[in-house]
Amino acid sequence: MNDPAAVRVYVLTGADAAMALDWLHVHADLQGVMEEDLAITVWLAGELPTLPFADLAVRELPVDATQPPVTGLEQDTAILVAGDLLVRPPWVERPAGFAGIELLVPRGNAFGSGEHASTQAALCALHAVWDAPASLADVGTGSGILALYAQVRGCPALQACDIEGPAVVAAQELLPGAVVHLGGPDTLQPADCVVANMTATELHATLPAILGLWTGRSALVLSGMRGPEVDGILARLPAAPDLRLVREPFTAIALRGRATP
Ligand SMILES: C[S@@+](CC[C@H](N)C(=O)[O-])C[C@H]1O[C@@H](n2cnc3c(N)ncnc32)[C@H](O)[C@@H]1O
Repeated sequence: MNDPAAVRVYVLTGADAAMALDWLHVHADLQGVMEEDLAITVWLAGELPTLPFADLAVRELPVDATQPPVTGLEQDTAILVAGDLLVRPPWVERPAGFAGIELLVPRGNAFGSGEHASTQAALCALHAVWDAPASLADVGTGSGILALYAQVRGCPALQACDIEGPAVVAAQELLPGAVVHLGGPDTLQPADCVVANMTATELHATLPAILGLWTGRSALVLSGMRGPEVDGILARLPAAPDLRLVREPFTAIALRGRATP
């Protein structure tokens, strides 16, 4: 756990605030987020990095030394991704009466602790088409949350990759039984189910390698596209999607596995 004294709090406003939050999920040690209609408050371990966005105003809030240390963890809650699928950090209790699938993901310095809409779209799509694949590859794994879903469902062979070192460390900690590589999809072996939650630009760049990994025996799940970006990705897939799922502003699509002779 980070030193609470090092946590700093910033308020982001302006048209680019949501994109800045997406960027921070990948590039900073984000400890907490509070999204309101006109402002996004972020808790960071350390100073806010320079944000590459034009329409953005940033204001730092003082951390009151007379108050208990602000950690950002105060904002954490269990996130009900689907009626029977929940993500929570280990320090948040399971909601009373919940008996579905639980993913325990500590917030660290890797993207994917369940609060981001693209992660939720990916999880919902994977959950909807899950057919107990013999193997799964998670491209752009971040914290490892999508591969964790597969592990919890009993998938016996898990691989993951990410180009960010901290993500690889976080995913290795979360998934001790998985093979986690630093690098892109070309570092992975073919798998029956392939999942990737990345920006549309990143999906376009990696799509040939992602499709090369996919045996087609189980599902292909792609998430992280914004509405106008979906058709460009669909045009490059070998078949029409069986599922299209929207968690504003992101879309996830899934192709089910085809029986092989
Ligand atoms: C939006 S995050 C998704 C994290 C997690 N899978 C989730 O669903 O919450 C995208 C991740 O993809 C990684 N990434 C971007 N381009 C990549 C590439 N070419 N190969 C592997 N990982 C990549 C980023 O470092 C980042 O961790």
